[in-house]
Amino acid sequence: MTMMKDKKVAAITGVYSGLGAALSELLAKKGYALVLGGRDKEKLNAFAEKMKNFTEVEAVVMDVQKKENCYRLIEQGVKRFGRLDLLINNAGVLHKLTPLEGIAEEELLDTYRTNVFGPIFCAQAAVTVMKKQGSGHIINIGSTSALDYKTSHIAYGSSKSALVGFSGSLRTELQGTGINVTCFNPGGMKTELFRRQPGRKMEEFMDPQFVAQKIVEHLESNSEEWLITLRRPK
Ligand SMILES: NC(=O)c1ccc[n+]([C@@H]2O[C@H](COP(=O)([O-])OP(=O)(O)OC[C@H]3O[C@@H](n4cnc5c(N)ncnc54)[C@H](OP(=O)(O)O)[C@@H]3O)[C@@H](O)[C@H]2O)c1
Repeated sequence: MTMMKDKKVAAITGVYSGLGAALSELLAKKGYALVLGGRDKEKLNAFAEKMKNFTEVEAVVMDVQKKENCYRLIEQGVKRFGRLDLLINNAGVLHKLTPLEGIAEEELLDTYRTNVFGPIFCAQAAVTVMKKQGSGHIINIGSTSALDYKTSHIAYGSSKSALVGFSGSLRTELQGTGINVTCFNPGGMKTELFRRQPGRKMEEFMDPQFVAQKIVEHLESNSEEWLITLRRPK
């Protein structure tokens, strides 16, 4: 085990693309040791090698839909670094946007398993460690879809609304423990998530590096604000 005395330790899910990659790189450059979670072994290892240019890294092949994988992410990180200061529940999925009648059962289940149950499982594992430390921060990556109630966003939007509800309840439950909880809701970003939507124009979407910067600024501010929305410029 490497005991981290002067370095903070961050566990992040869904790391090798989009916002997860931007957050990982920014936190690595700020001196965090990284516990990186992703489900594709080759992509994860290639990304972890890149991050090793900046910091110490533990890479964990994991699927956030599986509770035991979420626990392994946290346990392997703590075994390696001795502590956990930050969990970012970033992994998320968006299936084809469609009105209610067109939502396929499998896609609905996949959306909730990834966007809601995954963050809950990871938080369960992290809170156990953070309570013993008396400190920690959990950041859930939501979406403006949680708050805007747009047409054809029922599966994705309601899953992100559930994540907002989970974040608020957990924050209340953890008062006095030294553990902070934030739900950060970005608007459209230039990542693979929306690139898969047919006909989607993304010129005005935000760069994930810009969003990552705002998330880390929030983290460093020690602000009491827990439900944060970052909309793309009109
Ligand atoms: N892009 C936007 O406009 C936007 C706006 C608001 C919020 N968000 C949120 O931002 C977060 C990051 O998304 P992104 O925009 O950066 O898109 P992205 O590039 O598609 O990143 C999503 C990441 O989550 C991973 N992932 C998906 N299911 C997983 C699972 N079951 N287990 C482990 N990892 C899994 C993906 O891995 P694979 O490649 O292996 O699937 C990928 O690395 C998501 O929570 C998303 O909902 C995105």
